Amino acid sequence: MTATPLHALTSRRSMKFLRAPAPKQEELDQILQAAMSAPDHGRLRPWRFVLIRGEAIARLADIALDAVKRSGDPRMTPEKEKSVRQWMSEVPLFIGLAHQIHHDNPKVPEQEQLLATGASVMNILNATHMLGYGAFWSTGMGTYLEEVQEALGLDSLEYRFLGFLAIGTPACAVPQVERPDYREFVTEWTGA
Ligand SMILES: Cc1cc2nc3c(=O)[nH]c(=O)nc-3n(C[C@H](O)[C@H](O)[C@H](O)COP(=O)(O)O)c2cc1C
Repeated sequence: MTATPLHALTSRRSMKFLRAPAPKQEELDQILQAAMSAPDHGRLRPWRFVLIRGEAIARLADIALDAVKRSGDPRMTPEKEKSVRQWMSEVPLFIGLAHQIHHDNPKVPEQEQLLATGASVMNILNATHMLGYGAFWSTGMGTYLEEVQEALGLDSLEYRFLGFLAIGTPACAVPQVERPDYREFVTEWTGA
């Protein structure tokens, strides 16, 4: 739990190594409901989430890692495969992240739709953190391979797959992280 709402935002950091317990069902309901409050031009609700837990995680590991190996990715050495499988076996919940593409929408360009989905994922990350859990967004595990997204029931003509959120209890104390000074990223335009 975090002290103030603003502290909740600034103290969030990604935690890759996660264990059980995952958020309880009522907490997961709150986390996913938070995603529905993302800004969304045209009320397209382009975000889609696929829950993967229990035995389905080992099945996902098989499908994703086989697909990555078949794709010929040289980074998928036997050692890497072993470590990814080990990591996945300890994470109690994955959420597959997908974006429903509204092709040729006359009012809302695709980049705006994608931003709405990104904002919904950010709400999930923040809500997860506010409830005292850890999360990590990964675009490994064959995210960009069509067969992986199709295996999750997401037709690649209709959906763009955006990766997985690993969610659970941090395996170690959450270290503080130094964030950049916002002034490096902000200018003021005075109209002159
Ligand atoms: C769309 C997206 C995909 C990412 N994919 C990966 C990934 O595959 N592997 C990885 O190590 N980090 C990945 N990251 C970065 C981590 O999720 C995390 O943001 C990063 O480690 C910084 O931690 P922080 O969120 O505490 O600043 C990704 C981030 C985003 C936004």
